[in-house]
Amino acid sequence: MDILPELIARRARCGIAADPLPVEQVQRLLCAATLAPSCGNTQPWRIVVVTGERLPAVRQALSEGNSWATRAPLIIVMATKPSLDMRLEAGRDYAYFDLGMAALALMLQATREGLYAHPIAGYTPSKVAKAAGLPEDFVPLNLIIVGKPGDDALLNEGQRSREHGPRQRKALEEIAFSDSWEKAWGTRDLGDLLSRQGLLQP
Ligand SMILES: Cc1cc2nc3c(=O)[nH]c(=O)nc-3n(C[C@H](O)[C@H](O)[C@H](O)COP(=O)(O)O)c2cc1C
Repeated sequence: MDILPELIARRARCGIAADPLPVEQVQRLLCAATLAPSCGNTQPWRIVVVTGERLPAVRQALSEGNSWATRAPLIIVMATKPSLDMRLEAGRDYAYFDLGMAALALMLQATREGLYAHPIAGYTPSKVAKAAGLPEDFVPLNLIIVGKPGDDALLNEGQRSREHGPRQRKALEEIAFSDSWEKAWGTRDLGDLLSRQGLLQP
């Protein structure tokens, strides 16, 4: 059994083409997002699809390091607020967690359709909120920059090697535990599955 192909194929790529996307395709991305699970089925995600008159204002909100994203024909604003979701004891506010799952569902669908879908946090949130017309108490937690694969020649060296090189991931024994925190997962067959597939740097 292999890792799901869309999980392997998805990368945070910057070489996005400017071509507009058909509205049916954008609709499928939204459907995928709404199929994500949420705590008590609260569905706290609010998603602003920016392709038109507000696109220049959202582009202006991007940090300098994300100027590559100004080429994209579609910027998706993933927004929520804690009161839209379950808020349980011990700091368990589920709005951001559930929004993240919707974002991943959207990105996997985009990957399946051969698109690049790159999540970013590098922008001025107040500018994005204003451009996208969010109500005051909503947090624009993440933008997803979406488009067809474009010309890699537009990338700088760092971007090119980051998105085409092997992935950088912590080893499973660093982030997973067996029964209890004191016992690291250890290097079992599963532990080095990804490096054996050549998906991670050894
Ligand atoms: C919440 C979040 C914020 C991110 N912000 C940025 C960003 O501002 N600019 C950028 O180029 N990439 C950003 N990324 C992409 C990550 O750098 C990337 O996912 C990570 O390096 C792993 O690479 P991969 O997605 O290709 O596996 C962000 C990813 C997430 C999930």
